[in-house]
Amino acid sequence: MANIVIDENACVGCALCVNMCPDRFEMDEGGIAKVKNGTCDCDLAEVATQCPVDAITIQ
Ligand code: F3S
Repeated sequence: MANIVIDENACVGCALCVNMCPDRFEMDEGGIAKVKNGTCDCDLAEVATQCPVDAITIQ
């Protein structure tokens, strides 16, 4: 399973990643994205590409 890393300092809370892949991303209380432990068939590389501030790294 892909390891997702979110740069919490870069994230601006647009929630695009949550909308694209709600099984792997959620918003925390501070409005910053964090990773969930779920599984999905999403194109995570595409989610990372779409993040407007390049805060998502797929390893
Ligand atoms: Fe943040 Fe990028 Fe998601 S700005 S909310 S990590 S799409």
